[in-house]
Amino acid sequence: MRSLLLLLLGLLPTLALAQLPALMPVPSSIKTGTGQLKVDASFTVAITGHREPRMERSVQIFLNDLRRQAGMLPLDMSIVDGPSATLTIHSVTGTKDVQELGEDESYQLEITSNGAKLDAPATLGVMRGLQTFLQLVQTGSNGFIIPAVSIQDAPRFPWRGLMIDVSRHFMPVEVLKRNLDGMAAVKMNVFHWHLSDNQGFRVESKKFPKLHQLGSDGLFYTQDEIRDVIAYARERGIRVVPEFDMPGHATSWFVGYPELASGPGPYQIERHWGVFDPAMDPTRDSTYKFLDEFIGEMAKLFPDQFFHIGGDEVNGKEWDANPKIQEFKRAHGLSSNEDLQAYFNKHVQSIVAKHKKIMLGWDEILRPELPNDIVIQSWRGPESLAQAARQGYRGLLSHGYYLDLMWSAERHYRNEPLSGDAANLTPEQQKHILGGEACMWAEFIAPETIDSRVWPRNAAVAERLWSAQTVTDIPSMYQRMAFISHRLDWLGLTHNSSYTPMLHRITGTEDIAAVRVLTDAVEPVKGYEREQLAIEPPTSATPLNRVVDAARPESETSRRFSLMVDDFLRGNRNPELEAEIRRQLGIWHINDAALQPLFGMSFLLQEVQPLSQNLSAVSAAGLAALEYIDHAQSAPADWMNQQLGLVAQAQKPQAQLLLVVAPAIEKLIRAAASHN
Ligand code: ACM
Repeated sequence: MRSLLLLLLGLLPTLALAQLPALMPVPSSIKTGTGQLKVDASFTVAITGHREPRMERSVQIFLNDLRRQAGMLPLDMSIVDGPSATLTIHSVTGTKDVQELGEDESYQLEITSNGAKLDAPATLGVMRGLQTFLQLVQTGSNGFIIPAVSIQDAPRFPWRGLMIDVSRHFMPVEVLKRNLDGMAAVKMNVFHWHLSDNQGFRVESKKFPKLHQLGSDGLFYTQDEIRDVIAYARERGIRVVPEFDMPGHATSWFVGYPELASGPGPYQIERHWGVFDPAMDPTRDSTYKFLDEFIGEMAKLFPDQFFHIGGDEVNGKEWDANPKIQEFKRAHGLSSNEDLQAYFNKHVQSIVAKHKKIMLGWDEILRPELPNDIVIQSWRGPESLAQAARQGYRGLLSHGYYLDLMWSAERHYRNEPLSGDAANLTPEQQKHILGGEACMWAEFIAPETIDSRVWPRNAAVAERLWSAQTVTDIPSMYQRMAFISHRLDWLGLTHNSSYTPMLHRITGTEDIAAVRVLTDAVEPVKGYEREQLAIEPPTSATPLNRVVDAARPESETSRRFSLMVDDFLRGNRNPELEAEIRRQLGIWHINDAALQPLFGMSFLLQEVQPLSQNLSAVSAAGLAALEYIDHAQSAPADWMNQQLGLVAQAQKPQAQLLLVVAPAIEKLIRAAASHN
């Protein structure tokens, strides 16, 4: 029964989805009723209770999204009066002028065949409830409908963020806005904007114009653009936290202001990836005077309470090479570079506090000299989060949520902020863990590919941070994530739509069927391997137009194939299941023949020729394995060893890609040889 259900979910996802509310993140409580609400051109919204411009704006955004989602359903876009509205919104209070950490986001949504009611203590809850409403709308046999349901909902963690690095590759405002739409759809509430690093300084500074003029190759946000993005985020209930990384990761600052650095200079914008030597000089008063003026300017531009100073990965080499800095350390009793950085952080913290902000930084900033109100963002491991909480510091988990490392949605989903050391904290200490942030570092992303690296996997992180700790069903998560992924298409996210144009560029021909079959069966290498396996060191000038850029971080084709093979090998002998496995192997087996004529015609395709051959070869082995199993014969050991050799060969990275269907085929081969 269970395996049949899996099969149905795998093969007929739309059928299964029509009956289940595919909500992501899963709400705190959901009770289904009887009947359904029609959503048609007569749909209207009324606001009772508290009313403010931000609330009206969220209703307009909602109506616009609903209209787009339904394919330009002609809706009355005005807010109506009176009790006859289809959806009645009631909230008690509005919002703070500047959205704060921990504002109430809870809501209740009641849908009956007569209408819908959305109640929330405050506007933010209304925004979250409207997103749930949008997720509930289904295509029914007689029009769009919502099945009757009663939902109560509130987030588990108050800080649910996405960090985007715009330094290593610049991301235009429109890219940020569509990702903010995606964040709102999955109820994330913090956009952490990594604005400066070695490879680029991305904000216009009126006080220190050489920062953006010399540090950005002309790719920066004007202050008007920054305000526009912040306003856009605010309308969606999202805070914007800026990060200016210091004292390391700061080469781009030193191009215009070399006097800030610890070395003799001159400096140039860094073009490579990695950790570099340049670091601010923590010993000079002029450094702090500069930072005071700069942070003062940015503190006005970015209204959020929190200000991120980076603080990660200072290798100390410029400090070691500077005799004056060595002398300063001796004179001040600073015995290590970590001590020197803590000295720097203390000064920066007092500047940040002077400008009425709370300092946030990566886990390297955790030192007892720093006051307890700073927030620690853990990237090196979860331990620092628990350690910080025990010492009374608040923290955010990002270790395990690095989207650039190309891990599966499942791996991110299993990454629980309150597990490991944090599970043993007292409830009071656990409250110091504010939530977490997914991180999208930009070494290997461009405006064309960023969405496909963020989405849909970021929805799994969003659910981990919003929903109860007990919500852990992996098949359910994948099923709902697939649905959310399509919803994001309606919002204008390009994670799906960018794929076909990229494949057209790669093949250079009209017919992309075969390259799609291959690209669907592979994934980019994991962790930091893309850089490690590169033949030439990649730089910011390296094009991002290869198969590894088009390939999805997680192959849905491979994931489904593996589930079918597991089901089959557990003993499910449903002939349709085996036929489906055979059909897939057959497609892969003959795909190389279709690709062969194209390899000579495209420089972007050539590097995947070995992968294509391997896919064909291992699929032939898989088909042969099925023959043995079907005939109840045990395959000879020689045969098995030969095929396993093929599979082992096929699992080696090629062109920084992994043939991720190989492990499932290996299981078929082993099963064929153990058959009796
Ligand atoms: C980091 O990944 N260096 C924060």
